[in-house]
Amino acid sequence: MSADVPRHALPVPADPARLRVAVVGCGDISSVHLAAVAANDGAVLAAVVDTDPTARAAAHAAHGVPGFASLGELIAAGAADVVHLCTPHSTHAALAEEALAAGVHVLAEKPVAHTLADAERLAEAAEKAFAASGAQLGVCFQNRYNAPVRAMRVMLDGGQLGQVLGAQATVMWHRTPAYYAARPWRGTWAGSGGGLLMNQAIHTLDLLQWLVGPARVVGGGASARALAGAIEVEDTADILLEHAAGTRDGVEQPPVRSAFFATNANGVNAPVTLDIQAEAAELSLRGDLTVRWADGRTETVREHGVLAGDRAYWGVSHELLIDDFYRAVRAGERFWIGAEEAMGSLRLIKDVYARSYAPGDWV
Ligand SMILES: NC(=O)c1ccc[n+]([C@@H]2O[C@H](COP(=O)([O-])OP(=O)(O)OC[C@H]3O[C@@H](n4cnc5c(N)ncnc54)[C@H](O)[C@@H]3O)[C@@H](O)[C@H]2O)c1
Repeated sequence: MSADVPRHALPVPADPARLRVAVVGCGDISSVHLAAVAANDGAVLAAVVDTDPTARAAAHAAHGVPGFASLGELIAAGAADVVHLCTPHSTHAALAEEALAAGVHVLAEKPVAHTLADAERLAEAAEKAFAASGAQLGVCFQNRYNAPVRAMRVMLDGGQLGQVLGAQATVMWHRTPAYYAARPWRGTWAGSGGGLLMNQAIHTLDLLQWLVGPARVVGGGASARALAGAIEVEDTADILLEHAAGTRDGVEQPPVRSAFFATNANGVNAPVTLDIQAEAAELSLRGDLTVRWADGRTETVREHGVLAGDRAYWGVSHELLIDDFYRAVRAGERFWIGAEEAMGSLRLIKDVYARSYAPGDWV
């Protein structure tokens, strides 16, 4: 076994009161997970895992817990009840299946997998694991926990908005060739399963279909328009969607059209926008939510907490989602954002790729 175990960091013993957590993948997003674990009274960081010795050594030194060179070694040591997967997209499905088969709960970063085939196989494995051992799979769509987004969902469910008429969303961010050069997997089909849609805009597509309704692609395109020399995958995409509107007074309603535009080639990281027009109000999300009622009233729902730097656009709700995942694990309840739920946005993205690239040129 190649765990780096310092004298001051003996393996954490199993304790029913505190879930032993291991963070797998100690790169950029791991700091957000590590902070959330540290802030959680019901969990304790028990180990870090990274295949890269430098990243592993840095995490091990910073957190004073054993550092393992692979998930397999962590599992063999029986050192964790829950693993957080913070690794490149192409590793998610196999790592999650390995942990679930060993009865270890998995909280995976988005996307659930880099291909639909992997996601579907993982969904099946997660069903089996839950039935066999109660091991859970959760997927990190933390923006569903943002206070303004929750307020939108409550208003939409409550019926006071009347019929939804239309929606639009934009993600206009700035990524440089250096961003991709620093982590080459991000710019490749094999490593990431796509570009801007898979890595950044998936959150907003997820929200759009979660809020407005299950969607199908009417038309769309994705391509590398500004970063073509630096990446294989797309930096820009536009999509028209149709969302099932359900029934009203027993009558099937016509689908709701939405328009989506996203790019990583904007000059700056502009705020994500998501607007929904309904009969009684327009909902306008720009971090905070503004509700403009048809009767002239205006309401605002503020985002909880403001973070500086990178974390500002990653969102502030990882802690809320992680807390809710641990609660579900402790209660033995199925966490609500599992593989199937996470595949809604993945299916839309893969449909857009199928319309944009020749077979064999995308995964
Ligand atoms: N939810 C969000 O808002 C959000 C934000 C940023 C990143 N992410 C997601 O987090 C994940 C990681 O992204 P990142 O930018 O931190 O990547 P990164 O490249 O910075 O870090 C990944 C780490 O995983 C390690 N690794 C690779 N394969 C491994 C394996 N098989 N076992 C253990 N370690 C392995 C690498 O050595 C590296 O240290 C991705 O899925 C990404 O989409 C989510």
